[in-house]
Amino acid sequence: MAKRNFRVWRGNIEGGEFVEFQVDVDPGMVVLDVLHRIQTHQANDLALRWNCKAGKCGSCSMEINGKPRLSCMTRMNIFTEDETITVQPLKTFPVIKDLVCDVSWNYKQNKRIPKFKPKPKGADGTHRMYQEDVDRVQEFRKCIECFLCQDVCHVIRDRDAKQEFVGPRFMIRLASLEMHPLDDDDRIPEIRKEFGSGMCNITRCCTEVCPEHINITDNGIIPLKERVVDRYFDPIAAIGRKLFGIRRRTKTRAEEKGEAK
Ligand code: SF4
Ligand code: SF4
Ligand code: FES
Repeated sequence: MAKRNFRVWRGNIEGGEFVEFQVDVDPGMVVLDVLHRIQTHQANDLALRWNCKAGKCGSCSMEINGKPRLSCMTRMNIFTEDETITVQPLKTFPVIKDLVCDVSWNYKQNKRIPKFKPKPKGADGTHRMYQEDVDRVQEFRKCIECFLCQDVCHVIRDRDAKQEFVGPRFMIRLASLEMHPLDDDDRIPEIRKEFGSGMCNITRCCTEVCPEHINITDNGIIPLKERVVDRYFDPIAAIGRKLFGIRRRTKTRAEEKGEAK
């Protein structure tokens, strides 16, 4: 057992401060274990979220030494013994208390996304898809909604452009629908004009922090950006569509109804 120094942010939406704790840490502990030990012995009212302690529920997201991480998957042995470990809530979302944030904005974005629309069945009465198409969207389905990628994305973190960009988590949800081999909807106008694909400048910070190792930028966001370019800005694709009489939507559903803001 060794004594380790922690600085934990304590407060609420009105303000707060870092409080220092010295804690006995046993071999094999993760940061969440240490926070529970602080809660048990030194600060009974310390607020934090967790559920699975297995990196699968996405609840225990926080910033540890300045980096967005799952506290249940952050082993104490990655820090040097004399290092002070600073723990604070996700910066991008409003604090409720201590390490707990209000992430409800994310659930509102999820509701805005047009849902899966199944293609009609084939002539043999079944749906068929290639394994490689299944594998491609399977990567996006691994998301545990920890919102670490949302926290680190500078568009919503530093510029607070939440009205203009849904963020990386929802870009990959859109990608999982747009690339789904059995989906029959077309969300490209919304991806460009409502969900803000153009706001992402491919810094890849979101991919770096994803605990599920989803290649958010290269496999999700860039292919969506390419589809937007193909629809709106590629003259050869436009000529091809004209020659073959292929019609593609360029207006959003709101624009079609005359309701766009
Ligand atoms: S790659 Fe795009 S979505 Fe990801 S953090 Fe950078 S700006 Fe945000
Ligand atoms: S994409 Fe990765 S970082 Fe973003 S919410 Fe899902 S699991 Fe978390
Ligand atoms: S407690 Fe579930 S991901 Fe950490």
